Amino acid sequence: MPNAYISGTGFFVPPRRVTNDDLKTQYGLETTHDWIVQRTGIEERRYADEGVGSADLGLAAAERAIAAAGIAKTDLDMIVFATLSPEHSFPGSGVYLQQKLGLCDGPNAKFVPALDVRNQCSGFLYALGTAASMVQSGACKHVLVVGAEVHSAALDLSTRGRSVASLFGDGAGAVIVSATDEDRGIRTWKLGADGRFADVLTQRIWDIRKRPFIPANAEGVGQVAPEMMWAQMDGKLVFKNAVERMMTVLMEACMAHGISGQEIDLFLFHQANLRINQFIQERLGIPDEKVLHNIQRYGNTTAATLPILLAEAVESGRLKRGTKVALCSFGSGFTWGAAIVDW
Ligand code: UT7
Repeated sequence: MPNAYISGTGFFVPPRRVTNDDLKTQYGLETTHDWIVQRTGIEERRYADEGVGSADLGLAAAERAIAAAGIAKTDLDMIVFATLSPEHSFPGSGVYLQQKLGLCDGPNAKFVPALDVRNQCSGFLYALGTAASMVQSGACKHVLVVGAEVHSAALDLSTRGRSVASLFGDGAGAVIVSATDEDRGIRTWKLGADGRFADVLTQRIWDIRKRPFIPANAEGVGQVAPEMMWAQMDGKLVFKNAVERMMTVLMEACMAHGISGQEIDLFLFHQANLRINQFIQERLGIPDEKVLHNIQRYGNTTAATLPILLAEAVESGRLKRGTKVALCSFGSGFTWGAAIVDW
């Protein structure tokens, strides 16, 4: 059985910076820089311009990851795309990305499978586990895994929505998962979900059990009430569960790999709230120098968070051959995951 390793990483964030003060001055939210920084650690985030979708951001990240892996686009055997902000209800962003990559064009067109993953902040780890399995089984040699989000279009950027809107930003990260006979790669991953909390963090938009599934006016135009249109969250319940689940799944991954937490060189946590990660760090005794954060600059980019962190860690030299890195995430569903990778 070949090992599955990450042969290339890339990320892309839109250039438009939106600071905490901009939320106040440009969008009229009643908030303060200090409230957001003290509660979450977020200082600014990026917003994509109108007309840009998750597959566009994903394309830029994917092209960089493909170049870093030293492969051609046509070497890809599969695309796995994790997002909670696809262009449309269906199809998913994976086929749009396939088209944008040019994989459907010309005599060398390669109609590889494109799988969409709907696991929110844990989406990248669900996608990574899927890609690793495809590679280890021998079904694929190179799998493109993308996490990308355009949150800014679907945030209630008003005082009513401030407790959710101030948290999220746009961005994309990508990795190539490739086969190798070398003794390295994605050693183990643990994924979990608890559907009892499915309604605690949602953006429902419609209810397919209802007729019509979106209330319509006399002209047949759908009308979505604010509580359906915008994401809703019980923040304190999410916070509490995030801390517990992330610590547990991290320890489970270490046990499955037969190592202690001390043997890990670098921890990359999902960036939902700096305070969640600091709490975990403190409880597990993880020193600051073993942890990287980017929530200050990007906010919560959901499925894009971990691949952006990975790509930044490679760029800065913190992640290099031989580094043992742990990835960990938690999000809507609730869903969670952890992976241990020998780089
Ligand atoms: O990736 C998905 C996972 N998501 C998470 O992990 C999020 C986890 N939860 C959290 O990070 C925290 O719950 C938040 C940072 C979202 C909120 O912090 P909190 O301490 O739980 O605040 P709260 O929601 O209980 O709100 C406290 C007060 C409220 O005002 P009142 O009702 O006490 O008058 C809010 O309206 O703070 C208010 N508030 C704000 N004030 C200024 C909420 N958001 C803001 C804001 N600026 N941006």
